[in-house]
Amino acid sequence: MLDNQKSKSRRVLIASSHPLFGQGLVRLLNEKKSLQAEVVGMVSNLEEALEAMQRLKPDLIIVDYDDEKLNRDEFLARFVEGDQKIRVVLLSLQSAKEALVYDRRTLAASQIDDWLKEWPAVNDEPKIPMQNTEMQQKAKHRRSSMRHLIIAGLLVVAVTALLILGLGQVRLLPEQASAQAIPIDQLFDLEFKVIAFLFSLIVVFMLYSILVFRRKKGDVSDARHVEGNTRLEVAWTIAPLITVLFFAYLGGDALAETMRADPKALEIKVIGQQWAWRFEYPDYGIVTDTLMMPVNQQSILKLSSNDVVHSFWVPEFRVKQDALPGGNEFVRDLRVTPTLTGDYKVRCAELCGLQHATMESPVKVVSREDFEAWVIQETGVSEDPVERGRALVQRYGCVACHSLDGTRIVGPSWKGIYGATETMTDGTTVTIDEAYLHESIIQPLAKIVAGYPTNVMPLNYGEQLNDQQIADIIAFIMSLK
Ligand code: CUA
Repeated sequence: MLDNQKSKSRRVLIASSHPLFGQGLVRLLNEKKSLQAEVVGMVSNLEEALEAMQRLKPDLIIVDYDDEKLNRDEFLARFVEGDQKIRVVLLSLQSAKEALVYDRRTLAASQIDDWLKEWPAVNDEPKIPMQNTEMQQKAKHRRSSMRHLIIAGLLVVAVTALLILGLGQVRLLPEQASAQAIPIDQLFDLEFKVIAFLFSLIVVFMLYSILVFRRKKGDVSDARHVEGNTRLEVAWTIAPLITVLFFAYLGGDALAETMRADPKALEIKVIGQQWAWRFEYPDYGIVTDTLMMPVNQQSILKLSSNDVVHSFWVPEFRVKQDALPGGNEFVRDLRVTPTLTGDYKVRCAELCGLQHATMESPVKVVSREDFEAWVIQETGVSEDPVERGRALVQRYGCVACHSLDGTRIVGPSWKGIYGATETMTDGTTVTIDEAYLHESIIQPLAKIVAGYPTNVMPLNYGEQLNDQQIADIIAFIMSLK
């Protein structure tokens, strides 16, 4: 006690027949100044140790755990259990910087924590280590670890190959029908391969560990204590980082590819509204509910919305873009160069209300000649107001909410509505005449038939349609007996 109060420095005796162990430990103790240890001597066997006990009066003996010539059992028996009571630490020198404490039974926990807190311990449980076969066991263990690693590695390769093969059989994407789809599909393909590998890497190692290293019957021992592995941790941080950066580069490249502009692109305005699409061709003055596109020519779609956010998506073209309300500054461009003639379908990919799921319109990719013929046909104007009205209600999407056959969709069906008497939400009754229809088109909120939603009909048809067009639509409604 007196000694401790004067100085905390501990007198250490080293027991090892290897001079290198002593030199290494002395260097280590000198570096770890906080340990306050003073090496007073070095012995290579029990007799020398007993003699040194008298002469040098050490506080602690550090025994070389890896020295096969030393009989550790004897040391422990003599100094721990015997008459010579002194602290003994079994220690293995790993490198110039590291030592492992194998047996700390001879110091109280608080003492050892204080003294050796900087050194990792191998096992808190007291044990007397095996003597001769230890090196052989280590080598054996290393060989078996390598065997497990090779087996698991081969399994990872096999599962990755199977997954890639299997994914190749599944048609994950529809037909590729645009030039913009090519870089997207290439990137998608590569990502799936990398994902297949990552999946295998994680799942194979996990399942292999669970199965092969499960607790054997009757084994009640603790698992081996494993410290971190810096090299492994650096590797599995750097490798994904590089992979992610690489894919970010590829992604940026693919994005640029899909946005590449053709100065001769055909401009088509795409207007979304609850719950229909309208397509306008400013070059030809055509308004239609079917998107007609000439094959192998870039179309620039100018996307906007009359009400809420919609999203233009033709899966065969791969690219997708939102249609936003809010006027000119919110118009979004989407460039599509169709490469395959055929019939497709644009759908809305943004949840936009009741009929979102049915917000689909036909898309036709046709040859240059067919496209020109269609333009000529569309620009010819019919003499019949009912026919003109029929075309208008298709183009402006009215039929998305008003059926022509008596079916109730969102708004009242138009079949037989002209001349009928309806009760309004305020309780009054109204006979449906031309004046009521006109008012309902330009001011939808004025009088609403009871039982129908009040906030669905777009409010801006008065601005979108001229008087002649409104009259044509009314003529069409009146024709639906
Ligand atoms: Cu428009 Cu969903």
